[in-house]
Amino acid sequence: MSARPSAVSLTSTRRPSGERAISIQHETIEELTASGEEIPILDLGPYLVGEPGALDALATELRHAQEDVGFYFSINHGVPRELIQRAYDQLRKLFALPEEEKLKLKVNKAGLGYIPPKSSIYVTSPVNQNTMPDLNEVILTARERPADHPSIVAGRRFTGPNKWPNETLVPGYRETLLEYYAVMEAFGYKMLPVYARALGLPADYFEPFFIDPTWTTRNAHYPPAQAEDNQFGIAPHRDHGFITLLPLSDEPGLQVQSRSGKWISANIIEDAIAVNTGEFLNRWSNGRFMATPHRVVPPKRDRYSLAFFFNPTWDVVSEPFPTCVGPDNPPQFEPGTFLDYLNWYVDSNFSSAGGGKRQHASV
Ligand SMILES: [Fe+2]
Repeated sequence: MSARPSAVSLTSTRRPSGERAISIQHETIEELTASGEEIPILDLGPYLVGEPGALDALATELRHAQEDVGFYFSINHGVPRELIQRAYDQLRKLFALPEEEKLKLKVNKAGLGYIPPKSSIYVTSPVNQNTMPDLNEVILTARERPADHPSIVAGRRFTGPNKWPNETLVPGYRETLLEYYAVMEAFGYKMLPVYARALGLPADYFEPFFIDPTWTTRNAHYPPAQAEDNQFGIAPHRDHGFITLLPLSDEPGLQVQSRSGKWISANIIEDAIAVNTGEFLNRWSNGRFMATPHRVVPPKRDRYSLAFFFNPTWDVVSEPFPTCVGPDNPPQFEPGTFLDYLNWYVDSNFSSAGGGKRQHASV
């Protein structure tokens, strides 16, 4: 047996009583590889230190990951473990605040701020008829911009201003999270040449599209709540954007759906950052890069997550890449701007309490 880590496949079923039963099967990477349903592990180390040939070698692995699975674990990504831990520590303190304090940060017209539990139903999900509100609570943040930034002056959603907790209530929150976001943004930029080469494009292809990236972060708390039928920490869904960067949590819960419909646990590789494609990149690549469904089942203990949605500038249009269309491969989607797509996604899935426009009786 090689020294490669084991994978854990975690499936969730319902007993006749309605009680959720979790069964965990330990499988090796080799066994999952044989079934063609493993989540690939991509070692970014050689590329990040500039080894000759490493960019194209990694791009070849990435192409497989994004065309056949839609998710991968990145290792040796250069994001310090201690910084991720400090960010998690701050998040725990924020969500431990009394509800009245959290509601002072309630989501604003810009779509940023605190969103209480049970404010989202992922009705746009193509993989599950989601009917129950999700159990997680969230604080959404955008790239920090000055008050006179053209996007803020123009009132563009998801570009700012951010809502930050009072410094006396959560000392160091803003400073720590901004430090974490800066490192994650740098990580996102480092991945752009790999995505370009994986799509058969010049390495610098994406540079003009990420001049002012509309990245947002979804910092979430999944309480160990009792779920009702068809209810989740976050229900089966696909992400909205370009790529999502997600440091793996110590507490299990995240599951990824394979092509055959099997749910695979994503909590297996220490210090890995999971990366997946969002729907905007799926459309931009004319369906070539998969936006893979995933979900979070209610955890046994409090679970926190720090999802970073690395997205292009707000006005980038999803006109398909030249390598993804041709006489036998016509465009599948109507092109649109990134911001229009994000507006539709949020307004469809979130109630007004969550910064969207969807109507439902639960909130
Ligand atoms: Fe997601």
